[in-house]
Amino acid sequence: MEAVYADLVQHQVELEIKNSELEETHKFVNSVLSAMTDVLLACDTNGTIEQVNAALEQLTGKPADAFLLEPLASVFSAECAEKVAQISQVLRRELVIDIELNVRCADNSTTPLALNCSPRYDHDGRVVGMVLIGRPVGELRRAYDQLKQTQQQLVHSEKMASLGRLVAGVAHELNNPISFVFGNMHVLKRYGSRITQYLQKVEEMHGGESLRALQDEYRIDRILGDMEPLIDGTLEGAERISEIVQDLRRYSGGQREPAETIDLTATIHKAVEWVVRASRIQPEVDYVLPEELELETRKGQVHQILVNLIQNALDAMGEREQPRLLLRCEQREGKCQVSVTDNGPGIADHDLPHIFEPFFTNKPVGQGTGLGLYISYGLAQELGGDLTARNVPEAGACFTLTLPL
Ligand SMILES: Nc1ncnc2c1ncn2[C@@H]1O[C@H](COP(=O)(O)OP(=O)(O)OP(=O)(O)O)[C@@H](O)[C@H]1O
Ligand SMILES: [Mg+2]
Repeated sequence: MEAVYADLVQHQVELEIKNSELEETHKFVNSVLSAMTDVLLACDTNGTIEQVNAALEQLTGKPADAFLLEPLASVFSAECAEKVAQISQVLRRELVIDIELNVRCADNSTTPLALNCSPRYDHDGRVVGMVLIGRPVGELRRAYDQLKQTQQQLVHSEKMASLGRLVAGVAHELNNPISFVFGNMHVLKRYGSRITQYLQKVEEMHGGESLRALQDEYRIDRILGDMEPLIDGTLEGAERISEIVQDLRRYSGGQREPAETIDLTATIHKAVEWVVRASRIQPEVDYVLPEELELETRKGQVHQILVNLIQNALDAMGEREQPRLLLRCEQREGKCQVSVTDNGPGIADHDLPHIFEPFFTNKPVGQGTGLGLYISYGLAQELGGDLTARNVPEAGACFTLTLPL
């Protein structure tokens, strides 16, 4: 009897040791599972979920109980059904790696998960279920998108900067020859009118048959008639080139007015008045502006940018029966954003990446130089701000000028 009792006590002690070892193992497994940042799901061969880890709870905002004993498909959104069905291939010991599924979250949103699946075996080596390990890729994808956007911006500003250097160089080189073409044309105009007068006098004084014949032979009358319009046209062209060169040189650094405190609201009103008064297009103008907005900046440059944007908007609305212009100004995060929105046709997708380039224009020859936006972009950068363009659904184009407050 005593021996039986001693045996029993011995068994009891062994059982307690085994039990505490089991508890330790359990705690260990649980701590590993909850320390995992990857999502873990274990299910049986029918796809009924048996265990999930804390990472899945965190990702979905649902408690573990919401998953246990549910079918695997219920974890993922409906459009993933086909891919979820693929998972059971692991039961036939086929590899299932790197499939991407969308997990349903508590707030009805979904989030992407890159999954690898492996079969789970019992102690006899029989397949008794599967284990899914998933890495949330939403955050990664957002970071990637942001990186891509930043890279595009960098490429864009680098492109604009090197275009700026190129244009400044060309403008500098053009400045000399164009100014002597310009100067010489003025002298030629004076000479032309003097020669015309001289020939008229010669004819009056010595006009005879032979002189007349000579003049006809060399078509002198026609040449004299053409001389003035030809010279005037050339002068006009030279004048226009000279203006363009001046514009380019002005933008590329040189003349800088000092910064002053301006009321942006008043500057916006003034720019609109300026352009609209001189235009045949008379749009309905809506303003969403603060009563007053004080800003330390260079007034002339801000005015020039706004005038360019408003002029473009009016040009774009030429065909509209009811042209409408919206000027909006908002302050946020130490910046203010002025947007000019029109109800024109907007900007074609293939043009959007190019509109800020020098000499990009869709206007007929003689009507646009394609410098307005290029210069405005450069001025905005110089002011420590930015200029961007986008299309607005159900309206036309929207240009946003950002300035530091
Ligand atoms: N509000 C707008 N809506 C649609 N297209 C626009 C708008 N603003 C600009 N664009 C497009 O961008 C092009 C470039 O504009 P940008 O102001 O640089 O030159 P431009 O107006 O053609 O000539 P200019 O040098 O006389 O300003 C325009 O020709 C036009 O095709
Ligand atoms: Mg323009």
